[in-house]
Amino acid sequence: NDLPDDLFEAIAELKRELNAVILAHYYQDPDIQDIADYIGDSLGLSRQAANTEAEVIVFAGVHFMAETAKILNPNKLVLLPDLDAGCSLADSCPPDAFAQFKAAHPDHLVVSYINCSAAIKAMSDIICTSSNAVKIIEQLPPDRPIIFAPDRNLGRYVMERTGRDLLLWEGSCIVHETFSEKKIVQLQIEHPDAEIIAHPECETPVLRHANYIGSTTALLQYAKESPASAFIVATEPGIIHQMEKEAKDKQFIPAPSTSNCACNECPHMRLNTLEKLYLCMKNRTPEINLPEDIREAAWRPIARMLEMS
Ligand code: 13P
Ligand code: SF4
Repeated sequence: NDLPDDLFEAIAELKRELNAVILAHYYQDPDIQDIADYIGDSLGLSRQAANTEAEVIVFAGVHFMAETAKILNPNKLVLLPDLDAGCSLADSCPPDAFAQFKAAHPDHLVVSYINCSAAIKAMSDIICTSSNAVKIIEQLPPDRPIIFAPDRNLGRYVMERTGRDLLLWEGSCIVHETFSEKKIVQLQIEHPDAEIIAHPECETPVLRHANYIGSTTALLQYAKESPASAFIVATEPGIIHQMEKEAKDKQFIPAPSTSNCACNECPHMRLNTLEKLYLCMKNRTPEINLPEDIREAAWRPIARMLEMS
């Protein structure tokens, strides 16, 4: 597997050859973001996947995102640069255990955050993302009890915003749980003009300090529009690449973790590299496939989300 000298050029050429679109999440390496046709949050990426005319979808993100693209496009080739790019949050909700949980609460509607496997989606009534979770819960009948899975932090945030009681699955994201409330507060003392912006997957004590809470796209938008000149960013620092590109005169400081490691970088997202992106397009593998019965059952709650948001 010899690599070409100019990976950017080689990827652009393969894109034309394959009639492919490259969709990338904000947590990808800057190089990957720079070559993508579209960069977005989970909702934006799902919408792009639902509407693309391309024959091949190259998904620079994690497995559940590429899987969602395949659920929406069963006849297209969906490539993921590294098949091991999973998600700790999706892994925190195993299908067998969730099936038992759901069976114990048969009167509940099931709303699942898109960060879950196709098997969990297939057991759900509606999917949501961090950008539409509040809006979707607000549209559901007030007398109907709701299971919310798998992220307990997003669930708690939605409960607070909507005033609705949700039965939460106790899952979480290793990246967003690593931020240190204490260090964030100390950092803000050093940067008194900085605003704290946070993703709702963060724990409640961190969210309590946030000037603004939102999905990755919403955080980027807020950073561009806010009059503040500096921001402490409590989400995966990959997004800072776009923030620095789109708000050139502002300062973006990654929120610190409890330990001194770079554990606010998502180890799953970062498995994808420009080299692997090139190779997956050249070799047309690894591709995403899933059983048709699961795909069909998982499609319904995603389609419902796209209608409701
Ligand atoms: P959004 O980009 O939809 O806010 O999701 C963040 C995330 O953790 C994706 O894995
Ligand atoms: Fe999953 Fe968290 Fe990584 Fe997002 S940041 S892919 S939720 S582990």
